[in-house]
Amino acid sequence: MQVGHHIALSLTVNGTERSCHAEPFDTLAQVLRDKLGLTGTKIGCDAGDCGACTVMLDGQQVCACLVPAAQAHGANIFTTESTDPLTQTIKTAFLTHGAAQCGICTPGMIMATHDLLTCYQSPSRKTISDTIGGVLCRCTGYTKIIEAIASLAHPPASAVEADAARSVGQRAVKAEGRAIVDGTLHYGADAAPADALWLRVIRSPHARATFALGDLEATRKKFNLDAILTAADVPGANSFGVFPNTKDQPVLAQSHVRFRGEAVLLLAGSRAALNAINDADLPISWTQQSPISGVTAGLAPEAHAIHAHIPDNVLTRGNLKRGNLAVGRAAAAVHAFGQFQTGFVEHAYIEPEAGYAERLPGNRIRLAASTQAPYMDREDVARVLGISDDHVIIQPTACGGGFGGKLDVAVQPLLAIAAWKLNRPVRIAYSRIESMASTTKRHPSSITASASADAEGRLTAFEMSADFNTGAYASWGPTVANRVPVHATGPYKIPNVWNRTRAVLTNDPPAGAFRGFGVPQAAIANETLMDDLAAALNLDRWHIRRINALDHGDTTPSGQVLAASAGLPQCLDALKPAWDQALARAAAHNAINPRLKRGVGIACMWYGCGNTAMSNPSEMRITLDQSGFTLWSGAVDIGQGSNTIMRQIAADALGIPSESMTLAALSASSNAPSTAETADA
Ligand code: FES
Ligand code: FES
Repeated sequence: MQVGHHIALSLTVNGTERSCHAEPFDTLAQVLRDKLGLTGTKIGCDAGDCGACTVMLDGQQVCACLVPAAQAHGANIFTTESTDPLTQTIKTAFLTHGAAQCGICTPGMIMATHDLLTCYQSPSRKTISDTIGGVLCRCTGYTKIIEAIASLAHPPASAVEADAARSVGQRAVKAEGRAIVDGTLHYGADAAPADALWLRVIRSPHARATFALGDLEATRKKFNLDAILTAADVPGANSFGVFPNTKDQPVLAQSHVRFRGEAVLLLAGSRAALNAINDADLPISWTQQSPISGVTAGLAPEAHAIHAHIPDNVLTRGNLKRGNLAVGRAAAAVHAFGQFQTGFVEHAYIEPEAGYAERLPGNRIRLAASTQAPYMDREDVARVLGISDDHVIIQPTACGGGFGGKLDVAVQPLLAIAAWKLNRPVRIAYSRIESMASTTKRHPSSITASASADAEGRLTAFEMSADFNTGAYASWGPTVANRVPVHATGPYKIPNVWNRTRAVLTNDPPAGAFRGFGVPQAAIANETLMDDLAAALNLDRWHIRRINALDHGDTTPSGQVLAASAGLPQCLDALKPAWDQALARAAAHNAINPRLKRGVGIACMWYGCGNTAMSNPSEMRITLDQSGFTLWSGAVDIGQGSNTIMRQIAADALGIPSESMTLAALSASSNAPSTAETADA
């Protein structure tokens, strides 16, 4: 029913009659989240692609972001907050099977499972996969989810029991698992002060341009906005970044932009006012310039400098040399050579960046956002506000996937300057498109590599030269350039090595942390060369890796003697029977199939813990008072389970049950220990 500009809705949600008013173009997802406070239904893409918003509508799973609110009038809706018996049974199965990691997809998965078990009493694994296929999970690989659902359709002979978190090695229900399945765990977009203004970023449509601003005050009044903020409104330093000497990215660009998607203006107002304005309504006069795209263009002699103080666009050089390449090559029977290119990769965590901030009495600020690194956030927020670290409180929300992409700040400096300037709470939630356009990516690489081996397949020499496109700003480019030379050979014994890298600035989007900091790109090269050497020597590909595998006591190319963990030989030995069987199966198939062939591959990779070329401090604290033991940890659980396992480790260290150990709520303030999750978490 239409009432003025609003629609009066009545619907049954989780068995309860609910009514509210909605805007004509609101979706069911907005009604559930914003009008009814049921934020268990998540928004990942707002476009029908990810399924995070899946709910049951009149007995069928639907994407709530695609259902017009008016269409839900009179409907019977189930969400993950439901306590009906079937939903509760599904939740228990998800908990006991560890089917949730970051948990942002879990409410949608639970609803898709609700649909499945309503339609099928005993679904096959294929039917399970097909029915939940509309809900994307970026973390789990689906195995645990399918096992959980299959356990409901086909209960195992001995049911899997949920153990209390006791100690390392014990099966434990995830610390925040109950809140995940019930939909009560708050992610970045799920909560904010009631009077918070919304923010919207106006971004550059050009990869390289200068710009001039017109009458912003007239625009603000015309569109009934509370504020339009520019670079001039940044109270402290208008720059942020990972390393103390590479804080090169402005919060808001001042007069020129270096990549398409760079933040230029920050609008504050009601959601309706922000939605009513088009980018073209803003008085920005652009003068486009020719951009540099790709490392070849960035390194060309005629290339303009992306940053004036780096005239050759080489942000960082990495170099590692061991032995003598000429000697190694002379001792070899075969050589392999290759050139490799890899492209940008988006992290595609299901939860786009979101959060809120509020200014506190005493010139302090509190900021809640989805993040991997609250202490690094605190440093940059303090910097852009021009205040000390101990005036900043970062309270991480639940993090719906990170994979390195939430090691960099995104919404944090924008929230900070707006809350500070306007002296009232502000909130923001990036759209999927904005998340992809403006945040960091995996570094594209351009790699040249060679490897040499003697007649038995033992490696004698390895050389790699790799350029990484770090985009318009430094982000984690120095770490990639420094980390790859250490790992470029792969986990093999090689006496003669020379690895060189460059992180190259361009007008492409900034590239940052993404699981492995460049090492996966290098592994594509070195593992291909291992296969080529094996082929040249007519050796089995498993064999050449086994005889070269680093073992206890071996020395890596960087000179580290592996005194502790070096398990690759044992890993390969354990793999050997499966490798032989896979080869035999493929050979049998190929012998009778002239057109469709099967192949079998093998690859090894190594990766050092911690950061490279920067300090990597980490500390935790345990306190004891009348209420018992409390673990104070700065680690952010982004789905990897640190909230659960850290408690187990601490409990084991004290010889107490883990349920006797309380995990303190994480808040990056002046008195809590610090650490940061890396791209590998
Ligand atoms: S499908 Fe609705 S949020 Fe992605
Ligand atoms: S647990 Fe599925 S997206 Fe993270």
